[in-house]
Amino acid sequence: MKALVLAGGSGTRLRPITHTQAKQLVPVANKPVLFYGLESIASAGIRDVGIVVGDTQAEIEAAVGDGSAFGLEVTYLRQEAPLGLAHAVLIARDYLGGDDFVMYLGDNFIVGGIDALVERFRAERPSAQIMLTRVPDPRQFGVAELDADGRVVGLEEKPREPKSDLAMVGVYLFTPAVHEAVAELKPSWRGELEITDAIQWLIDSGRAVQSTLITGYWKDTGNVADMLEVNRLVLESLEPRVEGDVSDSELIGRVAVEAGASVRGSRIVGPVVIGSGTVIEDSYIGPFTSVAMDCRVSGSEIEYSIVLARSSIEGVRRIEASLIGHDVEVTPAPNTPRAHRLVLGDHSKVQISQ
Ligand code: G1P
Repeated sequence: MKALVLAGGSGTRLRPITHTQAKQLVPVANKPVLFYGLESIASAGIRDVGIVVGDTQAEIEAAVGDGSAFGLEVTYLRQEAPLGLAHAVLIARDYLGGDDFVMYLGDNFIVGGIDALVERFRAERPSAQIMLTRVPDPRQFGVAELDADGRVVGLEEKPREPKSDLAMVGVYLFTPAVHEAVAELKPSWRGELEITDAIQWLIDSGRAVQSTLITGYWKDTGNVADMLEVNRLVLESLEPRVEGDVSDSELIGRVAVEAGASVRGSRIVGPVVIGSGTVIEDSYIGPFTSVAMDCRVSGSEIEYSIVLARSSIEGVRRIEASLIGHDVEVTPAPNTPRAHRLVLGDHSKVQISQ
């Protein structure tokens, strides 16, 4: 069995963060979301992984390398344009050969991994096995309709009027039967070859398509609240460890201070992760906060937030429920005039207290 991991696409939904970074490398608890997927694949006993890449190929390759850090053997497959998930299967045809495979969308996050799903698939080998989860706004997903016995009868991609709140999660298991389906597809209204249509083709031609309902799921719907929430979930099972320098500080609960980080005169209430090269001084870092590498937080208070690499927060009380990008500077405004001075990138979102 192989894995096909999709790491192309432009990540419009997580702008502005994805202006400067592949969406699959957006960190959750200081680790790129893609790495959790690769770890889940390795843990399910799969070794051969084809990663489909597009314009951000160099960035993805620099992060993942040959896959040996994950116990995987990675082959990069270039997709010249984002022509759809089924198109990715089409270009991976030779790589996949006659093997069964799991297709894993690199911007999806599944709490608890995929071991049980892969085990069930290996035992029963339906033509396709999909995962569903209940979501508040199904219009942003592929949506499944089930019959009274829980069988999948219909699938629709980004429907205007969804027939259920069951979204298709971006992890699919296939036998080589899917190649027949993919070969028959025509581009959808959004100009893509949809994997949703390929699975519908399998249903229509009488093949077995199974579904499993899961909880604990996240993807980049562009919703910062969701991202803070998945960060919280992952931090909840953080292993506390202090590898950096800590002095005159109080660390409470699950706190990870990575090697090369420095914490001075501060109070950190976990779960919190502090990345390598980051300096925290005279500050309070509250629960469910991830501060990435090479940041500086001084004389400030922040909680329930994500701070990405190389940003600095100096003399600011107090930041909450925020997502702060790379190379950002947050400082207090001078007292007079009492006005906000902002330099915000395209697609930024700011809430200002009055
Ligand atoms: C894709 C699929 C969709 C699925 C989603 C999950 O959407 O087409 O059916 O629900 O992934 O992440 P896309 O990310 O291409 O909009």
